[in-house]
Amino acid sequence: MAEFDGRVAIVTGGANGMGEQVAHTLAAEGATVIIADRDAERAHLVELEIREAGGDAHAVVVDVSEENQVKDLVDKVITRFGRIDVLDNNAAALELTAEDPDVVALDSAVFMDTMRGNVLGPFLCCKYVIPVMLSQGGGSIINMASVSGMAGETSLTAYGISKAAVIQLTRAVATQYGKQRVRCNAIAPALVMTRNTSEWMPKEFKDIYLRNSLTPYVGEPQDVANVVVFLASDKARYMTGHVIPVDGGIKAASPIVADRR
Ligand SMILES: NC(=O)c1ccc[n+]([C@@H]2O[C@H](COP(=O)([O-])OP(=O)(O)OC[C@H]3O[C@@H](n4cnc5c(N)ncnc54)[C@H](O)[C@@H]3O)[C@@H](O)[C@H]2O)c1
Repeated sequence: MAEFDGRVAIVTGGANGMGEQVAHTLAAEGATVIIADRDAERAHLVELEIREAGGDAHAVVVDVSEENQVKDLVDKVITRFGRIDVLDNNAAALELTAEDPDVVALDSAVFMDTMRGNVLGPFLCCKYVIPVMLSQGGGSIINMASVSGMAGETSLTAYGISKAAVIQLTRAVATQYGKQRVRCNAIAPALVMTRNTSEWMPKEFKDIYLRNSLTPYVGEPQDVANVVVFLASDKARYMTGHVIPVDGGIKAASPIVADRR
């Protein structure tokens, strides 16, 4: 019997990048996976790929920053499958990072849109999924933060603030519902080479991460998916309220190490 047999997982942003890999990995471990994404074409493609590999996946087209749509998503999942064991709160409006400079230059509309996509979305998913988890006796929520939410940067102002908020959402949920067996942890990746990052990222940017990582490589989506699946599983039953870095050790060494090398 596979570890997630009989369990139902919602993966927001499951149509691309890390969410896509999480969806594949959870399905391979036996979960029924709901690919909750606003990108209909890719969501259905990932659903098909998972089914072809023998897994159970269902695409639901949803914008997680719209309250009615999140409520509908949860209603649909409950009507069809009767439970939600895992919520991977992974979707974020990464396209906005292209217009996210320093505080003074940052457009307040971009700031607000970033908060809608990256903070309101995960909040709404928690708000509607947690009552289901409470009624069935527990569940595991994994929020996707970032190293950008844990240290200052010269740009990515709104993105960093949104990810710091996701870390605080994680602590709030863990504190408020832990006794009722709802666990909530966050993952803070550094650079992960998804299809999208590989397309738009200038080579210099990847080189900066490589120079500052303690590993000789940056991350792949599977590196994050492995940790999501672990946190979702009963093996992590004594872990809640934490932020787990998946970052090649980028924050562990002294900031002068890269220059000294
Ligand atoms: N890639 C990185 O280097 C990196 C590093 C640190 C943290 N992260 C975080 O990891 C998560 C996944 O990143 P990725 O690089 O795999 O992203 P990606 O851009 O490859 O995929 C994001 C997915 O989320 C979906 N999405 C965005 N907003 C949505 C919304 N409102 N409703 C529904 N779906 C929505 C998109 O359609 C897309 O399918 C994000 O939270 C991101 O901030 C990424």
